[in-house]
Amino acid sequence: MEVVILADAKEIGAVAADAVGALLVRQPDAVLGLATGSSPLMIYDELVLRCVAGLVSFSRARGFTLDEYVGLSADHPERYHNVIDRVFVSRVDFAPGAVQGPDGLASDVPAACAAYEDAIHRAGGVDLQILGIGTDGHIAFNEPGSSLASRTRIKTLTRQTRIDNARFFGGDVDAVPTHCLTQGLATIMEARHVVLVATGSHKAEAVHHLVEGPVSAMWPATVLQHHPHVTVLLDDAAAHRLQLAGYYRETYRAKPDWQGI
Ligand code: F6R
Repeated sequence: MEVVILADAKEIGAVAADAVGALLVRQPDAVLGLATGSSPLMIYDELVLRCVAGLVSFSRARGFTLDEYVGLSADHPERYHNVIDRVFVSRVDFAPGAVQGPDGLASDVPAACAAYEDAIHRAGGVDLQILGIGTDGHIAFNEPGSSLASRTRIKTLTRQTRIDNARFFGGDVDAVPTHCLTQGLATIMEARHVVLVATGSHKAEAVHHLVEGPVSAMWPATVLQHHPHVTVLLDDAAAHRLQLAGYYRETYRAKPDWQGI
């Protein structure tokens, strides 16, 4: 696991966008894993700027989102399919239908989850997965106690996650859906490169467990310690509980520019 502590969100966005850009040069038809929520917004904004400037193109790329609320209507602004379209997909040059997500309105939930796993598999798997992390250590919506071997399925959101996400629903925690469909931890572990972003002191405890804690279903993100290629991009506030922060900074400073993440 490579831990990179950067000055601010802008720098995090640039470093992550460099990795996405380099991947798309090597492999224009790459498969991207796209998180929603606040954490990756600076990456998407930076990629939009570069796409508009002609420096990167998504015209042959495909994308898969991580999760979806159950039961939000097709036109609900907080439905993750609509969120990712608004914050990223519609602002760059993806082909129509190139980005898909789990179907939160499916009547047959197990079949919809199996179909989503199958779609990722048929696309050749995710080349680069962008992730955020919840304050309770979830990745996608794999809440504490999730099986480390889990696949796409329905999950109940914790009260903490619903409180955290109430800001997207006018501050009303009861308006936040209680259930979601989410890629499992084993699904995410199959991505070839995972880039996890965390900013702000409210993420420091989860980041501490992710990077330096024991692997445990109680802090689901810790499963990433078993992944061969994970990059964790942090600001100072999110990194402030890391025991080896000095070592991570020194290691990144000594890295040759050409190497990237
Ligand atoms: C979103 C997702 C979640 C978020 C996490 C952090 O698709 O899968 O795991 O990444 O809840 O959310 P933010 O970034 O809003 O703090």
